[in-house]
Amino acid sequence: MTSITIDGKTYRAEKGASVLAVARAHRISIPTLCYHPALKPSGSCKLCAVETVAKHGRRTTMLSCIMKVRGRLEVKTSGDLVDKARRRAFKRLFQMAPQSIQIRRLAEDFGVDTGTPPDGCIRCHLCIRVCKEIVGAGALKMVTRKGVKLVTPIDGRCVGCGTCANLCPTNAIVVTDSEDVRTITVRDDVIGRHPLVRCEGCGKRFATPRYIDLIEDKRRMDHPDVKLHHHYCPTCAKLFSDRVQAIKSKPQKLRLPGHR
Ligand code: SF4
Ligand code: FES
Repeated sequence: MTSITIDGKTYRAEKGASVLAVARAHRISIPTLCYHPALKPSGSCKLCAVETVAKHGRRTTMLSCIMKVRGRLEVKTSGDLVDKARRRAFKRLFQMAPQSIQIRRLAEDFGVDTGTPPDGCIRCHLCIRVCKEIVGAGALKMVTRKGVKLVTPIDGRCVGCGTCANLCPTNAIVVTDSEDVRTITVRDDVIGRHPLVRCEGCGKRFATPRYIDLIEDKRRMDHPDVKLHHHYCPTCAKLFSDRVQAIKSKPQKLRLPGHR
């Protein structure tokens, strides 16, 4: 047996045990991602750095999963050097796994600022432009929060058409139709939540009342088909339209009951 001093407190420890194992045995928190007690340490994640004194007397950081307990070893699990090493390690990990919630949580637990999580949006403004210029709802805007630009819903403006999601090149906007409700979201922000109405042809739920109202708006009814098809889902609207075209191009004889 030997002893080790961690954060000013001395503990008895097996000679050759890792500093990390001794710290864990005494419930001292050190972040790790690549450590597993059943495997040899690899020193990959570099999160487990602790401060110690190098041979030449200079203070430095070393990986506690690899460093073995030896006589009169002193380490610190916090402080400027450790913070710097952890920030560097988290930064490197985020470059490899930017969407990882586990890494983000771990970083927050150890007081490392991770900034705004990536949201998959490339800030092309397509969603904002189509909603304003074509749909005419103006339900989205770009807002800067903590120095980061974010596509943000404007309350009460969404009509539930889903055009923004259809155009988004990275699928950052999501439309979810469940039972009779359509929800459109970007990150955790709800852009709109709407009931869905049934198609008059097949009975399938397909559009939101606000979207149908928008289509019925006279300003947008410059195409005759809009009048005919706005209560039909795209499949039924196409069927209906094909039939109308067929009747128009090939007039059929009207057969009255009792006539041959
Ligand atoms: S949410 Fe999609 S469409 Fe909108 S700005 Fe981001 S990437 Fe472009
Ligand atoms: S636990 Fe990953 S380097 Fe030590």
